[in-house]
Amino acid sequence: MESEEKEKWLLAGRIGKEIRELGISMCVPGAKVLEIAEAIEKKTVERGAKPSFPPNISINQIAAHYTPKYDDKTELRDGDIVKIDVGASVDGYLSDTAASVAVNENGNKLVNAAKEALDAVVKIIKPGMAIRDISTVIDNTISSSGFSPIVNLGGHGIGRYSLHEGEFISNSKSYSGSFLRKEGVVAVEPFATNGGGYVIDSSEVQIYSLVSNKSVRSALGREISKYVLEEYHELPFAKRWIISKFGKLAEIEIRNLVAIGALHEFNVLKEKDNGLVSQFEHSFLFEDGNVTVTTL
Ligand code: CO
Repeated sequence: MESEEKEKWLLAGRIGKEIRELGISMCVPGAKVLEIAEAIEKKTVERGAKPSFPPNISINQIAAHYTPKYDDKTELRDGDIVKIDVGASVDGYLSDTAASVAVNENGNKLVNAAKEALDAVVKIIKPGMAIRDISTVIDNTISSSGFSPIVNLGGHGIGRYSLHEGEFISNSKSYSGSFLRKEGVVAVEPFATNGGGYVIDSSEVQIYSLVSNKSVRSALGREISKYVLEEYHELPFAKRWIISKFGKLAEIEIRNLVAIGALHEFNVLKEKDNGLVSQFEHSFLFEDGNVTVTTL
């Protein structure tokens, strides 16, 4: 790996850690999720990066893929389990990291279960290792705390401008015969729940990504897809960002772009039994047999 490339992976990780910690520090009773997301985005840009994806601020039964709406009024309440899942892009070199907190509460067992699972992974992870060995550690740690891992969410390989590629790192014991890459970046993200351990799509969508440059009939639609390609490539973006830039009419245009297959929708994911969900995540850089946790 070129040293310049490595520096960008590391910087993306450092900024990822900073914005994750900023987000967590803002999780107090009465805080508006929109203000938390905007503070994270502002800090990302101030540090010379762009978001890898819109800050996901997912509360209680929502596991992932929630970013605040344009006019979101949601406020945090005592006891809410909040997941802050964020990342920074430095010239397309990405980080992906998450932490959880129970608002106004210390020592929440569900939060600790996912944290301990990620801590256990940090201790054993090696380039090229068997993926099932990571899955086993996550599953055992979460199960021994009396919770369940979410089986259909998991870690993943990361490439330049590519948030999910290659490996899938299951959070539950599996007989996967696959191995981690020896060089490059992966993210590991244990999710714990007091529900059945499975997420389903809800009907709500706040996050999209560009899938192809289809010919778009309307001028506004063309403008939006050109802007998204230039700003975010094929990385996820928020509906809120597009409305801020192009106005309220953009919402209809986004629907049209989805209908012609130009945009992919990330449905908000919720636990199927309405279980509460916690999550922690780090990005790991492998090089010459060594591991660096870029977001630690
Ligand atoms: Co991830």
